[in-house]
Amino acid sequence: MPSPKIIQFPLSELLVNEVTEEFNLQYGNKPEIVTLAPGRINIIGEHTDYNEGLAMPVAIDLWICTAISKYSKDYFSVFSINYRQSVKLLPNATNVFSEPWIKLVSSVINILKSEYGILGGGKIVIGGNIPIGCGLSSSTAFVISVTIAFCNLFKIRLRKRELAIICKKIENLALGLAHGLLDQYAIILSKKDQFMIIDFQDDSIKYLPLSLNGCLWIVINSRINRELSKSAYINRVKECRKGLEILNSWFNINSFRDIDNNMLLELEKGYNIPYKRLLHLLGENIRVKKMKVQLEKGNKKQIGKILQESHESLKTLYEVSCMEIDYIVKISESFDGWYGGRIIGGGFGGCSLHLIAENVIEKYGEYISKNLGKKYGVEPDLIQVLFPGGVS
Ligand code: GLA
Repeated sequence: MPSPKIIQFPLSELLVNEVTEEFNLQYGNKPEIVTLAPGRINIIGEHTDYNEGLAMPVAIDLWICTAISKYSKDYFSVFSINYRQSVKLLPNATNVFSEPWIKLVSSVINILKSEYGILGGGKIVIGGNIPIGCGLSSSTAFVISVTIAFCNLFKIRLRKRELAIICKKIENLALGLAHGLLDQYAIILSKKDQFMIIDFQDDSIKYLPLSLNGCLWIVINSRINRELSKSAYINRVKECRKGLEILNSWFNINSFRDIDNNMLLELEKGYNIPYKRLLHLLGENIRVKKMKVQLEKGNKKQIGKILQESHESLKTLYEVSCMEIDYIVKISESFDGWYGGRIIGGGFGGCSLHLIAENVIEKYGEYISKNLGKKYGVEPDLIQVLFPGGVS
């Protein structure tokens, strides 16, 4: 029987030490500034952020760490521990590189230079333990960690929300995507052991203390790559906007939040795809509200049920799941002590989130590894996540 793979990642201090030591090795002295940006999960509210909807994300204890010092040269020397690669970046060199991590650093430099006129160069080392491209927001954490390092070094003062917006711009320009603000808000504005409830209609945020005893939040990294996610994400954004446009012409509404079920019944007649996407959106917004109530009550069964409903909706209406994660959710249903789970993030592979009784966690790990291995030859990682708060 394969051994269960329940990973608890080393404390952030260990990562900070590793990055600081590497900095010393690369440049022969200690960095002036070290920043840590966490990854995030989303308890509920998927694909709602760019549709004026509701979501409930929280930062987790996986990190990207950046160490930085000023340099006497007028370029930036950057070393990535994860890719064991260094690069020399001259200002305004975006798109010369094909590696996404270099594009991202380059985009940070160019945007901060053009918007805040920073002068001079820097020495940088970046490392992290967030699995890359798996729906845990590794690239957003990367951008935020590097941007905060720059802002501190060059004394650029930004409010947290300004930082979120500029980081979104940096990432979108570098990777050619137009995501919502879910990831940036979660990583920057999370508080320790609290879930956030974000209303993307007015960007208001409330916090919900986290107090579920006897169970754990587990992320399963299916390691299925998300090739489709970029093009499909852009399509989902367009499909939702098209639905709103049509409904606007029929009912004179302007906001996704004005849509109701009767309007959707009309849409279904001629526009099946926008209908399905918006039906998911309406349901998902309701599930965020229901989840808040059940979390406050500590009702694990109901929490699990809402997670499963969300998965079903992401699978059949929003169509962003994949067969391996559908299989994980399906076989988990008959496992005693599993309350519920669903695919998280952009979709098409990557990670799913599960609520599981603490005392069955080892057995669950064995069960998932064995069955997923047998059916798809996939060896998933199970990661127990904690909620340490946002960037530091
Ligand atoms: C990705 C995007 C987020 C959000 C989620 C889906 O993670 O970066 O902005 O849209 O997908 O909820």
